[in-house]
Amino acid sequence: MSDVPEPTRRPEWAALENHRADTLPQPDLRELFAADPSRAQRYVVRVGDLRIDYSKHLVNDETLALLLELAEATDVFGLRDAMLRGERINTTEDRAVLHTALRAPRDAVIEADGENVVPAVHAVLDKMADFAGRIRSGEWTGHTGKRVRNVVNIGIGGSDLGPAMAYEALRAYTDRSLTFRFVSNVDGADLHEAVRDLDPAETLFIVASKTFTTIETITNATSARSWLLAGLGGDEKAVARHFVALSTNAGKVTDFGIDTANMFEFWDWVGGRYSYDSAIGLSLMIAIGPDRFREMLDGFRIVDEHFVNAPAEANAPLLMGLLGVWYNNFLGAQSHAVLPYSHYLSKFTAYLQQLDMESNGKSVDRQGRPVTWQTGPVVWGTPGTNGQHAYYQLIHQGTKLIPADLIGFARPVAELSDELQAQHDLLMANLFAQGQALAFGKTAEEVRAEGVPEEQAPHRTFRGNRPTTTILATELTPSVLGQLIALYEHKVFVQGAIWNIDSFDQWGVELGKVLAKRVEPALTTGADVPGLDPSTAALVAAYRERRK
Ligand code: F6P
Repeated sequence: MSDVPEPTRRPEWAALENHRADTLPQPDLRELFAADPSRAQRYVVRVGDLRIDYSKHLVNDETLALLLELAEATDVFGLRDAMLRGERINTTEDRAVLHTALRAPRDAVIEADGENVVPAVHAVLDKMADFAGRIRSGEWTGHTGKRVRNVVNIGIGGSDLGPAMAYEALRAYTDRSLTFRFVSNVDGADLHEAVRDLDPAETLFIVASKTFTTIETITNATSARSWLLAGLGGDEKAVARHFVALSTNAGKVTDFGIDTANMFEFWDWVGGRYSYDSAIGLSLMIAIGPDRFREMLDGFRIVDEHFVNAPAEANAPLLMGLLGVWYNNFLGAQSHAVLPYSHYLSKFTAYLQQLDMESNGKSVDRQGRPVTWQTGPVVWGTPGTNGQHAYYQLIHQGTKLIPADLIGFARPVAELSDELQAQHDLLMANLFAQGQALAFGKTAEEVRAEGVPEEQAPHRTFRGNRPTTTILATELTPSVLGQLIALYEHKVFVQGAIWNIDSFDQWGVELGKVLAKRVEPALTTGADVPGLDPSTAALVAAYRERRK
């Protein structure tokens, strides 16, 4: 493996550097469109219900051809196939990476360690569907015989962001008679606010943790159990009716006091940030129902199949990944904005932050050599129109290059009133206007022609050339959400493959966890903690002084 060349040493990398320097020293979107207006049609890729327009990018046919050559040289599709065969491509954790098996059809055969994992996937989905059905129908009752009205998911990272994001995204499809809350922060205020107005007799806690050792989750789950028991008279038997677990770790679930009959299993070949379509999605399944959940899985599968079957030049995740590489490694961009024009996607970018930044925030390659090339970008963003009145100024006229994804839908969700539905065109007009303004700007001549005084012209000139991808779908359905998530999952995969990093481990979060455990006694008891650096020791002392 150590003979794998660094990506920057490949001739395909050098060709891209030369191309940037010679052919596209200052790529200009006005010129690129003037030279080839057909790019508005040609630079569009369709997958499932998604129409992905990448015409407003600082690339031409040659750039794309060179990027595709880089993908071929770095064997992106070879690694993809190894992933799908169940090989242990997560080498530092020695694990297979098979989240695509979570949405495979019942009759598919996908093997990990020689065993077909698909029957187990569907057995868990069926068990989830049965449980979700019993909660939704009222058949499952709490300890006092009352039906469940409130569902509180306790988890963090991949055991929180996915279901919390998808619940918001698909709110229009949820059972509105049920209340859903998502608790993640070890700050007691999170659990307090989540349960303060709930009746424990009507509340189900879903403790979601792949490892079942995550301190935030176990601490919150323990406090939730105390809250429940205090509210229900202290009978320990209540726990079985009000707590279920989602985990890979049956032993720890039992230790916590949850019967494994009430545990929904998944497997170590599902990464936390790739897990919300596994048992981790139980809260979502209760919210939208098993049929809608399966529609969402079908949406994931549409993009999985596209990633496998579409030719490279029309392969949406491949192209999105390559465009990101172009900006990140050849044009000096440090970040990537994801700007959904949908209130329902308010948590979408936060979800993508973990997916992308925990996967590709790495600085050694797969062979353990320090990288000398840029890896994952900072991913950020909030729903579009809100951002327009906050930080878009910097995207338009600041000094930083920030490629962005604009995501919008042709139709609003059906349950809005006619008047509110009519606002949708205005929302989408904003999306299209921003894409245009970012790409083409406004020249000084155009500004002057409007009669703007000369001294103001520089301030009111927009250089343009701010690249965007526009992802347009008909409606935000469960299937479309699955398509979008799979699209980004595979885009992240593509980039990790090109950068030759392990996109599936997350050692970088470990040190902070270990140190937090070490520091805690210093805060609570004032214990002398060896190894505290002088700055942190002073902070701990200041905290102790003030907490008295
Ligand atoms: O933050 C690190 C991490 O391990 C994430 O990868 C994971 O999604 C999160 O913690 C929660 O882990 P668990 O599901 O095991 O509680």
